Amino acid sequence: MPCFRLRPPGAIALVCSLASWSCAGGPDPAETAPNHMYEHFGRVAEIQSALILGDLDATRGPARWLATHGNEAIPVEGQESLERMRTEARVIEHQTEPLEIARALGRMGLACASCHEATGGGPSISTDDAPPRAGRGPSHMLRHAWAVDHLWEGLFAPSDLAWEAGAGGLLDTPSDFGDNDQANRLARRVHALSAEARSARTPRQRVETYAQAVESCSLCHGVLGLRLR
Ligand code: HEC
Ligand code: HEC
Repeated sequence: MPCFRLRPPGAIALVCSLASWSCAGGPDPAETAPNHMYEHFGRVAEIQSALILGDLDATRGPARWLATHGNEAIPVEGQESLERMRTEARVIEHQTEPLEIARALGRMGLACASCHEATGGGPSISTDDAPPRAGRGPSHMLRHAWAVDHLWEGLFAPSDLAWEAGAGGLLDTPSDFGDNDQANRLARRVHALSAEARSARTPRQRVETYAQAVESCSLCHGVLGLRLR
């Protein structure tokens, strides 16, 4: 399973402990190669993970793949959605600003949603999972990751239920980063975005809120010099 590790100063965090597909990239594409849904899905999750962790270069490989794959066995009513996905993948491949990459990813989620609506497909959304408990340190971050996963699911399913869960999951007491003003500002921004997410109703507003949240994750991990390995 594709996996990323984040190495914060003084600790090694294994992000794959999250029992969520979008953390580590979802079902292994190699194991489910005949199923293009999973393969697309995994590549998009790789982009989201890399972006969140501030590793913009790692967004480009999966974006290139998405821009060039997947015309087999697609129902006619899904062709336009697939084209929209490809367009956004090309934007991601060439963008260098985290906010613009996140916006393109959000718009890609809407393209996924449009095919699910056109074909009557898409995931079934369960209501029974709860965010990791609020707290400091890694559990705080796992809660953030859970929230972003649900916002994303809210976009691509599409699902109000998942979106609202994600919005709620962003609400937490911001961590205190001492005299690092930039980090403090970003921590407060994530928490303020919870309210914005709750009031975002239209797909466009939701894409923008999702993008702002993901950008905040990306910038803070960058500011603090956290490194992938
Ligand atoms: C061309 C149409 C189309 C596009 C584009 C599309 N999907 Fe789907 N998706 C479907 C259909 C049809 C199903 C239901 C059948 C299936 O599970 O294979 C589905 C099912 C799913 C499921 C549920 C799978 C399961 O086993 O429960 C997920 C998750 C999913 N899609 C995610 C995505 C994501 C993320 C994107 C965009 C990156 C996307 N899809 C783009 C048509 C599409
Ligand atoms: C204000 C700074 C800041 C912001 C904003 C931030 N993070 Fe983090 N993140 C950290 C720090 C510091 C760590 C490493 C230590 C820790 O886990 O607390 C970290 C680690 C992580 C990890 C690895 C945690 C683990 O235990 O495996 C994930 C996943 C993560 N962040 C996701 C997110 C997501 C998703 C967002 C955006 C919603 C986000 N972070 C926003 C500072 C931030």
